[in-house]
Amino acid sequence: MSGEQALDITIIGGGMIVTDLILPSVYHLQRTGWVGTIHICDRSPAPLRALKENAELKKAFPGQEFVAHPSLSEPDGKVFPDQFAEVLSAARPRQAVIVAVPDQMHYQMVKAALLADQHVLCVKPLVLNYAQSVELEALAMERGLYVGVEYHKRLDRRALLAKTLYAEGRFGTFVMGEAKLIEPYYYRHSNFQNWFVCDKTDPFVYVGCHYVDLVYFITGLKPVAVSVSGVKGKFPNGNEGYLWANGRVRYENGALMSISAGLGYPDEGAGSNDQALVMYCEGSNKSGLIQHDDQDRGVRHSYAVGAGCGGSVYNYVSPDFFRMVQWEGKGLKPVGYGVDSVVANVETMVRLERQTASLEQRRAVIREVSEAGLLATPANSFINELVVEAARLSITAEGDWVDIVYGDHPHVEARKR
Ligand SMILES: NC(=O)c1ccc[n+]([C@@H]2O[C@H](COP(=O)([O-])OP(=O)(O)OC[C@H]3O[C@@H](n4cnc5c(N)ncnc54)[C@H](O)[C@@H]3O)[C@@H](O)[C@H]2O)c1
Repeated sequence: MSGEQALDITIIGGGMIVTDLILPSVYHLQRTGWVGTIHICDRSPAPLRALKENAELKKAFPGQEFVAHPSLSEPDGKVFPDQFAEVLSAARPRQAVIVAVPDQMHYQMVKAALLADQHVLCVKPLVLNYAQSVELEALAMERGLYVGVEYHKRLDRRALLAKTLYAEGRFGTFVMGEAKLIEPYYYRHSNFQNWFVCDKTDPFVYVGCHYVDLVYFITGLKPVAVSVSGVKGKFPNGNEGYLWANGRVRYENGALMSISAGLGYPDEGAGSNDQALVMYCEGSNKSGLIQHDDQDRGVRHSYAVGAGCGGSVYNYVSPDFFRMVQWEGKGLKPVGYGVDSVVANVETMVRLERQTASLEQRRAVIREVSEAGLLATPANSFINELVVEAARLSITAEGDWVDIVYGDHPHVEARKR
């Protein structure tokens, strides 16, 4: 692809998910010609400096660079919370923005990117309430801009297989299930302690949402009620957050799903986190089962030198989500369903720009992508915003059930005690 057809990418936020997934994926797209200049904007220069100096990234992508905003000549302690607005206003129209800031800032950043005429890929969850997702969907459609939500578990081959076979009726109908996603304890020592506070987000919203999206992706069943209970605790800096959460989701056919999430998988564990999905289904005088062990994917390493990411010597190593491996080119190639998801979203934006000549054509392509249902868009993943909104109401009301009402104006309603 020629440079003219490549999209420039602005990444807003330069924290963990950018280091571990987004920047490697985008660097790879840059060297394969899909992406032009990469800008990264953070509120402070420190994370940008860490990205520039990251030895793994240097080794995997020799000679590749991004433009840092603010400039790295600024001191680490200085903050630039509004710099993203300047960076967006300088961007060429109809390029791409990847939003990777804390959950509660997604709405503001996605809206600003759309108003700056940019296609957007936002890390999950898109926003924390349904009305905001409807507003962003309408704004994007009005301008013929694509918005993707980075629910990468959809691109995991085991999820794709389950979706295909579920649609063929091979399992029967989902009736009862459970999932867990327990992130490592060491997250509590990261920048999380500054934003993962009780009144902003919780583990169910942060990672439980992956399995909420996945069950909907596989079955197409809409959630109709949510109850989430949390366990509070203190971060090392004294901020209080929900460190654990358990949610129950009721579906339109009466099915029930229980999801546990937390920031507490032992750093010494082989993990490096704990995650799994079990879905029981009812068939005709028979039951069906989908069971995914998403933690131990069958590869174990024990290191004679050094340790794994949480500090453990003996590790379950998932080759499925994200790894850097040898390839036919220079450096290393990022592989895994996390990479597939970023790549598929960016390629969708590039194709949208290449294949369409009018606003109507762009809108038609956006509708097609949403209807295909593979990549998450506001139109095909809005149930997540309803669940997140209901979950936040429920967790702050000690687990009270919150109903999700569909129809012309979907909304959530706290159930009267
Ligand atoms: N599995 C997943 O899909 C997954 C995993 C991790 C994180 N995430 C999501 O990614 C987002 C970020 O998570 P993270 O783990 O990278 O967090 P993080 O705290 O490591 O990084 C967030 C970054 O945003 C920056 N930031 C804050 N305010 C800003 C502003 N005004 N302008 C520019 N930058 C600003 C912070 O300085 C920080 O570097 C969250 O929404 C999270 O839910 C998704």
